Amino acid sequence: MSVLKLSGACPSMSRINQEFCSHSRNRECFAASALPAEQLDGAPSKVSGDSFIRLHLKKLSPYQPILPFEVLSARLGRKPEDIIKLDANENPYGPPPEVVEALGTLKFPYIYPDPESRRLRAALAKDSVLEIDYILAGCGADELIDLIMRCVLDPGDKIVDCPPTFTMYEFDAAVNGAVIIKVPRLANFSLNVPDIIDVVKQEKPKCVFLTSPNNPDGSVINDEDLLKILDLPILVVLDEAYIEFSGLRSRMDWVKKHENLIVLRTFSKRAGLAGLRVGYGAFPLSIIKYLWRAKQPYNVSVAAEISACAALKNPDYLEKVKNSLVLERERLFDLLKKVPYLKPFPSYSNFILCEVTSDKDAKKLKEDLANMGVMIRHYNNKELSGYVRVSVGMSKHTDILMKCLKLLE
Ligand SMILES: Cc1ncc(COP(=O)(O)O)c(C=O)c1O
Repeated sequence: MSVLKLSGACPSMSRINQEFCSHSRNRECFAASALPAEQLDGAPSKVSGDSFIRLHLKKLSPYQPILPFEVLSARLGRKPEDIIKLDANENPYGPPPEVVEALGTLKFPYIYPDPESRRLRAALAKDSVLEIDYILAGCGADELIDLIMRCVLDPGDKIVDCPPTFTMYEFDAAVNGAVIIKVPRLANFSLNVPDIIDVVKQEKPKCVFLTSPNNPDGSVINDEDLLKILDLPILVVLDEAYIEFSGLRSRMDWVKKHENLIVLRTFSKRAGLAGLRVGYGAFPLSIIKYLWRAKQPYNVSVAAEISACAALKNPDYLEKVKNSLVLERERLFDLLKKVPYLKPFPSYSNFILCEVTSDKDAKKLKEDLANMGVMIRHYNNKELSGYVRVSVGMSKHTDILMKCLKLLE
């Protein structure tokens, strides 16, 4: 059996579900499969595909992404343009017209993209007043989250997660075989800094993911708390996917002062480019050099790079759209406060988390709204099961949402 031959090349591995062979001198020694010992000994006639899968991945529950627009449209029996999509914090204004123009005149789609995304990084350096050497671009901030973990975490290493927060940290940590230590946020969703400090001292985790503004509640981390955490011997990844809506300065330039800080940002929210997948990060020079080695060479597509550069050429548009969304957030917040069964939380972002009160069921509320063509986010996890999150859309979207919420009173 061919699998047996592969692992048989290294006799020491025949009985053990070992992932890497430590005998580097033996060049014929391949990474072993996760075959059970009986299969290796007994040479069974059939091998099931999942016997090749790494053990920790078999325990992983699948990530639950949102439904694509077309699928949603077919399921709801409505045209895509008739769906009010307030469930994924997308930017309904989309990118500036320069992006569509640039995509329409794309000259070399048959040539691989620049592995160093030089044009984009130069534009970002101007946009952020941080030199190009500190910046690396990715296929969305999501790719960078995974890339950082792949560079930092050995299987079994510990990472701190502060739920409720963006669930990709937990997901990617599990994919990378890390142990997740949860330090839940306080009732007002602020970080439990004393507990984070204790956990770092006792458990010696390698990194912590912090989000400001935090998804799903929109709260921000103040300098004092962040500095206390940066003082610890831990890598701090500060996710600023929504920073533009906060009115606060990005901390990208802090990476020059703090060797244990990474700051992540994205074009998905600010520039309305979620579908084209462009994110970026600011890294200390002592870290970024390893990410360059480990990243996929063509991680930012030609279309993605051109779109992001074109978006940055129209800062007035980006500013106008951001201001509209921030104004709309405040109007939406005031309106949600008047809904008798909702308790909205103040937000620095382009979404508002609401507790569903008065014995109303949050999941049913989400489903009732979906049947009326309005999508909002509900959570399956225990800690947020009584909450919904509403993304900020255009004024007309708010108006329709409010009419539907009134019908459900
Ligand atoms: C906190 C946070 N970080 C990162 C991302 C992902 O960003 P990107 O679209 O660039 O992958 C999201 C997306 O919703 C998010 O909420």
